[in-house]
Formats: sequence, structure tokens, C-alpha cells
Amino acid sequence: MMTRPLSVAVAGLGTVGAGLLTLLRDNAEIIAARAGRPIVVTAVSARDRSRDRGVSLDGLRWYEDPVALAADGQADVVVELVGGSDGPARALVEAALAAGKPVVTANKALLALHGAELARAAEATGATLAYEAAVAGGIPAIKALREGLAGNRIRRVTGILNGTCNYILTNMREQKREFADVLAEAQKLGYAEADPSFDIDGVDAAHKLAILAALAFGRPVAFGDVHVEGIRAVSALDIRLADELGYRIKLLGIAQREEGGIATRVHPCMVPASHPIARVDGVFNAVVAEGDFVGRVVLEGRGAGAGPTASAVAADLIDIARNRQTPVWGAAAAALDGEPALPMAQHHGAYYLRLMVLDRPGVIADVTATLRDHGISLESMIQRGRAPGEAVPVVLTTHDCHESAMRAALARIGALEAVLEPPALIRIESL
Ligand SMILES: NC(=O)c1ccc[n+]([C@@H]2O[C@H](COP(=O)([O-])OP(=O)(O)OC[C@H]3O[C@@H](n4cnc5c(N)ncnc54)[C@H](OP(=O)(O)O)[C@@H]3O)[C@@H](O)[C@H]2O)c1
Repeated sequence: MMTRPLSVAVAGLGTVGAGLLTLLRDNAEIIAARAGRPIVVTAVSARDRSRDRGVSLDGLRWYEDPVALAADGQADVVVELVGGSDGPARALVEAALAAGKPVVTANKALLALHGAELARAAEATGATLAYEAAVAGGIPAIKALREGLAGNRIRRVTGILNGTCNYILTNMREQKREFADVLAEAQKLGYAEADPSFDIDGVDAAHKLAILAALAFGRPVAFGDVHVEGIRAVSALDIRLADELGYRIKLLGIAQREEGGIATRVHPCMVPASHPIARVDGVFNAVVAEGDFVGRVVLEGRGAGAGPTASAVAADLIDIARNRQTPVWGAAAAALDGEPALPMAQHHGAYYLRLMVLDRPGVIADVTATLRDHGISLESMIQRGRAPGEAVPVVLTTHDCHESAMRAALARIGALEAVLEPPALIRIESL
């Protein structure tokens, strides 16, 4: 005999919300078996009631105000798919948790900015707050880190966490085109938002990295600690030169335990072409975790879209139907660790530096002298072709050095008269 169905209230019927309704209907039987009871949407909320969403809303209770779903007496669980770190999404999640009602959300901005308070609110009433869909869409990254790898001390988590950026970088490389050109096309095709800044400036990836870092290192989520750079400054030339050096350029999120604390950063990286993450192309996402007993675990899949994201939300609903509960951040709030965050100035690593310089005697000597003055040693230098009196690219790669030294050297190099454009700097990750 089956128990009573789990009654679900869904706020937001956009890409993910409509996808969830479709998934729960198409796979109702298999889900009921796995959940031990049917999972049925009974109430919904969105702004525009008349909009055709490609799914029938017949027989569902309709709410104008998403926050009112928290008080729906018949719903066992609230699913928040509205989006935004504040506003109705936050109000709904807070109201539901305060009422002791389990919440499922796909909202990385909300979790990254307010996840610590929300976890305390969930703990206070014993309610579940589940968010598998918030990081890397269909990839079960949250479950993998929080549960599957829970026996390990995690050394590092690395991810391709934004499909829009990965799509743009992949196309720039394959089609030898510039950033602005590929972005415009991605917007036309619907792979990039009309306002793409959250994606291409690295903010969305940083939200997700903050969440992964909290889980991996058992510390309170701290978005403000993440160093964030996007992909606007990556040029087709640098992508081609990276290829020649045996690297791919990827926007990575990296959370790493180092001496003295935890470093979290999102920025374009050169990664060895042979590393599995280098071959994750297009809209695909990847999460790589390294644990002391398990070694390296690589997860790859679709990081966005109706189907993959709904797949992750459904997994959370099945857990709730089964009464499987895990603390929001893997351990109780009081058991989280206060390990300090390391600032980017303390980063230690190798660098790719590309300059456009006037081809004339002495210029390279000035550049290398400046690097030497800052204690930076060169690994390689490439100058392709000669064009006396004209601009030529010069590429330098360094041995590991400190970010602060590199920044200081770069300021001086950029000010040299023969250096014609702001230097391009990309960090090399040996991974
Ligand atoms: N799209 C993805 O692939 C993806 C992947 C992972 C995570 N997520 C996350 O999932 C969440 C939803 O994303 P989405 O792509 O499905 O967004 P979306 O397509 O823009 O849908 C948002 C939904 O919320 C409703 N809504 C927006 N503002 C509202 C307000 N002030 N009051 C009431 N309803 C409001 C909209 O109503 P109307 O339809 O009436 O306008 C719409 O149904 C976000 O947190 C996003 O970050 C999305």
C-alpha cells in the first residue's frame, strides 16, 4: 500500500518550473516507486496567469503572490523557482522554513548570499532546505560532495560552473572569433541572457563556487570571499596562443585548502589540454573534487536547461518524500569550521602574460628586467615573427610566483612606452 502523495507547491513556472511539472508527470510512476509515494504538484504561482507554458495547469491552486504558497495548508513542500537573491524568492523561502515546511530551490544567488541565515532558520524548525539544482544543473554535485564524498577531507574542488561562458570560450576557439561576436550570436540563439553580465562577469559561477566551497570545507557559505573575474578580456589571440602552448582557456571556479586557509576564486585559467576538464566544451559543466581517500572524482553534464535542472529538483523532492534529511551545509551550523579565507593577493601560481610591444631593440630586456626585479622567473618566452617598428605579440610564461609580485610587475610593464596595450594576464593551473 502506498502512503499519501507528497503535495508540492511550485513558485515560478518559467524554464525550470514548467520543466519540473513536465518531468513529474512524464516520470510519475518511476518517481512514486523511488519516493515510496506519488509526488504531485497541487499549487503553483507565477506572474502571468494567461501565459501558455506548454504544460496544463488545470486543477492546480493558483496564487498571484508566490510568498502566499508558504501558508498553503495542503502543500507538504514548497519549491522556489522564481530566482533572485532577495525579493519574493527570499521571502517565500524564509516564510516556508519559519513554518517548518521543507523547501527545494534552484536559486544559487539566494544560497550564496543568504545561505548561512537560511540554514539557521531551517535548523530552528527542523525543516529541510534542499538545493541540488542550484549548482551545475543536472550534475548531482551537491549530493556528491555532501554525501557521496562525506568520508573524505577535500583538498580542492574545481568546476566549469557557467555554461554560457564555456559555450562562448568553446566557440571562440573552434571558430577563431572574438568574444563580442560570439556573445552576440549566443544571445540571438538564447544561450546568453539579454543582460549577460551575471554570466560573463563570473558572478553566477562565483555563487556556485561559494556553495561548493562551503560543502567541501564544512564552513559557512561566504560569497564575499570569492575572487571574481569574468571572460570579457579573453581574446581570440590568447586562445590560439594557449593552444600552441598545450593549454585550453576555461573559466574555472576553484576552491582550495592551502596553508593558512581556504582560497576561492573564479577567473579564466589555462589548463593542460590533457586534463579532463579541458575537454568539457560548449554548454556542459563539470565538477572535479579531490579527496584524501577517494582521489580525483570527475562529474560532467548539462548545467542548465529545463530538463537537467528539473532532474535535480525531482531528486530533492524524492529525498523529502522519503524523509531523508541532511543538514543544509552537511553539518550543523554550530559544527561548521571557521577556517580563514585567503585573499587573492596571496595566490601563488604560474602566469601567462601576453604583451603587444613595439618591435625594437631593448624592449624585451626591459620587460624581463622588471619581472626579475619582482622576483619572478620566466619559464618560456615566445616572440612570433618580426616587424621592426611595428606591434608584435610577445608571450611570457612564468614559474610559480606571488600574485602580489605579478601585479606590481604588471603595473610597471604596462607603463613602458613600448608596450602598446594593457597586458593580458591569465593564470596557469597545473591541476
Ligand atoms: N534556467 C536554468 O537553466 C536554471 C538552471 C539552474 C538554476 N536555475 C535557477 O532556477 C530559478 C528559475 O530560473 P528560470 O530560468 O526558470 O527562470 P524564468 O524562466 O525567468 O522563470 C521565473 C518564473 O518566476 C516567476 N516570477 C518572476 N518574478 C516573479 C515575481 N516577482 N512574483 C511572482 N513570480 C515571479 C515568473 O513568472 P511569469 O512566468 O509569469 O513571468 C516565471 O514563471 C532561478 O533561481 C535560476 O537561477 C535556472
